Amino acid sequence: MNKSATIDFATATGAQDLTSPAHTQALLDLVAGEARDSLLGVHEVLRRELPQGRLAIYEAGGGSSSFLPMDVLGRSHVTVVDIDEDQVRNNTYADEAILGDVQTYRFAPETFDVVICYNVIEHLPDVEAALLNFRDALKRGGMILIGAPNPRSLSGVVTKYSPHWFHVWFYRNIRGIKTAGLPGEAPFPTFFHPLVTLSKLEAFAAAHGMETIYRREVESPRYPEMRQRKPLFAALVDAGAAVMNAVLPRGTDVRRGDYHVILRKR
Ligand SMILES: C[S@@+](CC[C@H](N)C(=O)[O-])C[C@H]1O[C@@H](n2cnc3c(N)ncnc32)[C@H](O)[C@@H]1O
Repeated sequence: MNKSATIDFATATGAQDLTSPAHTQALLDLVAGEARDSLLGVHEVLRRELPQGRLAIYEAGGGSSSFLPMDVLGRSHVTVVDIDEDQVRNNTYADEAILGDVQTYRFAPETFDVVICYNVIEHLPDVEAALLNFRDALKRGGMILIGAPNPRSLSGVVTKYSPHWFHVWFYRNIRGIKTAGLPGEAPFPTFFHPLVTLSKLEAFAAAHGMETIYRREVESPRYPEMRQRKPLFAALVDAGAAVMNAVLPRGTDVRRGDYHVILRKR
């Protein structure tokens, strides 16, 4: 491990409090809709494909809440690497929390059963380096779960081409997250490397010894969230999306703002 180049915050070492709401918060925070359905589908795949017994999990850009199912977390040793000191300090579920850059941080080969990189690759200038690090750190047959925005969707295009202050405004005023943009709080600056596009990501993975075993593009959870919180604003956005869908090639749905993909190391 590259520990000399990083600071370790061994927060919450060892004992995981399984009654802590932090374990399920990520799922609970998702309003009912396609994104939540897909995350539940991801949980099923993980339960089916993971080996029995203790698991070693690497959450890359882990932040402070996990997207793993509780029963998997309960039998896992979780290592989080995050570049943000506040995110590392706020982490409640990791057995080991490391301040580091997932693009450069190297673990010993074949250390982990699963790597999770959820809502992170859009923030990385060098997605190739991160993916190759993840692959190398995985055991043979191990899986990478990636959750990311679809750059070709309405929300993807707006996020990619709007300034960071607009993202903060959206989080505060539309999502109602008053702490948005404060140190250690989302939204984080985005980069949108070309590999964030799902088809390119899958092609890169296939060329580097990984196969896709789950993929689903979903309506961004921001839509059901907006419909609940800001119905008028949501109606305007939905109308705009419907117009775009009508003029774009058949089958396009610009609302599909996010995806989940699971890659398995061959
Ligand atoms: C949008 S948050 C997602 C956090 C968590 N995975 C989740 O979905 O709740 C993005 C996270 O990636 C982290 N991050 C961004 N660039 C990073 C890098 N180069 N190395 C490690 N972590 C990074 C940020 O600090 C932040 O915690």
